[in-house]
Amino acid sequence: MSKIKKIIIANWKMNPTNLKEAKKVFTGIKRTAVKLSNVKTVVCPPFIYLDDFAPLCKENKIAVGAQDAFSKNKGSFTGMISPEMLKKNGVTFVILGHSERRALGETDEFINNKVRMSLKTGLNVVLCVGEKERDEHGWYFPFIKDQLLSGLEKVGKSDLKNILIAYEPVWAISGNSGGKSMSSAEVHEMTIFIKKVLSDKYGINTILPKILYGGSVNPKNAEDIFVNGKIDGLLVGKASLDTEDFGLILKIANKI
Ligand code: PGA
Repeated sequence: MSKIKKIIIANWKMNPTNLKEAKKVFTGIKRTAVKLSNVKTVVCPPFIYLDDFAPLCKENKIAVGAQDAFSKNKGSFTGMISPEMLKKNGVTFVILGHSERRALGETDEFINNKVRMSLKTGLNVVLCVGEKERDEHGWYFPFIKDQLLSGLEKVGKSDLKNILIAYEPVWAISGNSGGKSMSSAEVHEMTIFIKKVLSDKYGINTILPKILYGGSVNPKNAEDIFVNGKIDGLLVGKASLDTEDFGLILKIANKI
């Protein structure tokens, strides 16, 4: 993972409603993704489509990821999908701690258990953090620090190469913001802060995880966020279901 310069993750959320449509979007994304030498594309469809797409991701330029995984690999847990099931079926990435799952009641402790089990199983973990709102006293900084440190509790330095941090301010996610993203200056400030928290925890000379931004990314703002936000990748929701828009985002990332 570390050799790839940029990483762009498509978070399809609970879309599309049928396999035919999902295949159409996936094929459209793949067509662009395999041509790009500077970008790794990770498509995270609903669980039900993973099995269809994993075998189509033999090349290093495209992979599939899950939008969640459970904290245990064995046991009677109705409705859950284990990291081991994902791994054994060709899935290599998993998004954990997304704000939409936190809103359903997932605690930092539960997310940390999922992070550790997924890493132990050999998946690459995309750990999402993000404040719900911004206050003028800057309390969102300690809030993000807490989410990071709780999510990474008991996660050793040797696992960092398999972790990506996705900073997604909840208020800038398209469903909440009406499409307004964060400014690239604010993204940059937060990437510096996240790096500081991580290097305080893991030591100044540690190779830190890649930092991604997510929240209303589209072809118009992607370049500014990338260049001036100084991030290593993007987590894209709404625009990742539009093959044209997502293809443009991939090409922008590739040329930077
Ligand atoms: P958005 O979603 O790009 O639609 O804002 C991002 C996310 O929730 O991961």
